[in-house]
Amino acid sequence: MFQYNEKVMDHFANPRNVGEIPDADGVGEVGNPVCGDMMTFYIKVKDNKIDDVKFKTFGCGAAIAVSSMVSEMAKGMTLEKALQISNKDVAEQLGGLPENKLHCSNLGADALHKAIENYMEQHKEI
Ligand code: FES
Repeated sequence: MFQYNEKVMDHFANPRNVGEIPDADGVGEVGNPVCGDMMTFYIKVKDNKIDDVKFKTFGCGAAIAVSSMVSEMAKGMTLEKALQISNKDVAEQLGGLPENKLHCSNLGADALHKAIENYMEQHKEI
């Protein structure tokens, strides 16, 4: 038996930034090999910063809370800083996750990083 803390429950019950950005500058999708859940992040970039971020997560409560937290952390950050957000940072910001749910936190930062890399690939400076 495990319990989620209040912060995790809040992000699960009221996830921030849920949705899709149809004209996103970068999109990142990851799947969790452990459970098969999926997460997609969409970003809008302005002046090298994450201007807007949305996500869609087909996953467990922890995965939804993690996506919500990642989106809040990343908003307004420079691309370089956002690339440094680690899965561990996210779990810490959430006040910890139950041991057997830690694998769920592996999706969040990975999906965000993929979206940023997707943007960078399209905007390679020559
Ligand atoms: Fe799949 Fe948590 S059980 S992400």
